[in-house]
Amino acid sequence: MGNIKVLYVSAESFPYAYVGGLGEVGASLPKALSRSGKVEIQRVMPGYKGVDCEKRTVTDFPVPMGKGYDSCILKTDLTDSEVPTYFVCNDRYFYRDHVYGYEDDGVRFFFLCSAVLEMLKHIPFKPDIIHLNDWHTGFISLLIRSSSMNVKTVFTIHNIIYHGYIPEEYVDGMLSDKEAKELGRPGYLDFMKAALMFSDGLTAVSPGYSKEIYSPELTGGLNLLIKARDDKVAGILNGIDTDLYNPENDDVIKYPYSWNNIENKKKNKKALCEYFGFPDEDVPLVSMVTRLEWIKGLDLVAEAMELMAQEKFRIVIHGSGNPYYQGLLTEMTRRFPEKVAVDFNYSPQLAKKIYAASDYYLMPSSYEPCGVGQLYAMRYGAVPIVNPVGGLKDTVKDRKNAKNNNGFHMKNRDAESLAEAMKRAFSLYGTAELDRLRENGMKADWSWKNSAGQYIKFYTDVLDIRRIK
Ligand code: GLC
Repeated sequence: MGNIKVLYVSAESFPYAYVGGLGEVGASLPKALSRSGKVEIQRVMPGYKGVDCEKRTVTDFPVPMGKGYDSCILKTDLTDSEVPTYFVCNDRYFYRDHVYGYEDDGVRFFFLCSAVLEMLKHIPFKPDIIHLNDWHTGFISLLIRSSSMNVKTVFTIHNIIYHGYIPEEYVDGMLSDKEAKELGRPGYLDFMKAALMFSDGLTAVSPGYSKEIYSPELTGGLNLLIKARDDKVAGILNGIDTDLYNPENDDVIKYPYSWNNIENKKKNKKALCEYFGFPDEDVPLVSMVTRLEWIKGLDLVAEAMELMAQEKFRIVIHGSGNPYYQGLLTEMTRRFPEKVAVDFNYSPQLAKKIYAASDYYLMPSSYEPCGVGQLYAMRYGAVPIVNPVGGLKDTVKDRKNAKNNNGFHMKNRDAESLAEAMKRAFSLYGTAELDRLRENGMKADWSWKNSAGQYIKFYTDVLDIRRIK
């Protein structure tokens, strides 16, 4: 068998458009698969307003949307030769300021799904597998089933709690009564459910999360759909792009360093502390680079700050999102001006400078399917302090006397446990023990090498229609 041909579909891909980890994986996984030499991969995503690259129009075609049609202009990026990327464009749906957050998100992303099917009739690339990611792409699995196309679908669950919906008429005639009911009839049909029911194979973004999706609490009841697909589910840990994120060789970082030249990391810390206007004192620097939303545990951080009032440390929080959390964090900077700094204007450059400067990195997420922040942090020598759930448990180890431990776990998801874990971490500041944890994190291989291989194996299994587990 020759190379497997994969069409990768995602609502986000760095640098074109990205909101969080979905966009980072949308960039780094296709690149790693392409470099494996075993996969021929192309990518497709919506042509949002902000997508900035040299584009060429390939063709245009009508896209079935419920009872009517909408038009799609298909464009391609002329500059990325490694992973050819298509953009499905329709200004009514995608020429907007943000990627998500509109009342008609369901219809917008149904357009993506339907346009991908149509596009396959117009491009020379004939994939064996369409790799779908999160709810935005979920109806592709049903559209494929209802077509005569000979192609398999793999759906990756990055976060099962996000859903999108469309009125039933969009998929008229494609579902049995029983299936329509399972997808949400009467009312609106659910993209995520369609993906779980009709994709040929399912993956979750870490082994830990692939177990958590069997629990009713974490899935809002979708665990039963997962159970029904039990033999087709795998957990594959996300990797990171270790070329782009390399403290030894990173244009953004003023003082490059590695685990055995940590003095330079201290210079980066000094520079960042100056940038944020902190008093010049040698105290622990902890950071968070995060979307500002409930699951990330910012409420716990605010509470824990009160419990840590006597401790000497600084905390930097960087990321954009929910205005409620901007308010909460701004309040924190007023209460603890010498300890807390925030920046709500997410920039990948500032994010790297923060990883490079930090001694510790905080992820008190209530759940975390994989998490990429802790991987970047470890690569840059910031020791993670985490709530051990999902991928955080798989990647951050806090075990007494273990040789490979690299971070600190909270005992429970509450402010006391967070404060306790931070105090325990800070008590090792400046010691050889902390150096050892940091080195373990920096020396570990967080690249896609291993996981890309697991995806290739999974694709092969899906194509062979063998049992996956
Ligand atoms: C989602 C998850 C996050 C994961 C990312 C990439 O954003 O919430 O945990 O790392 O997808 O898979």
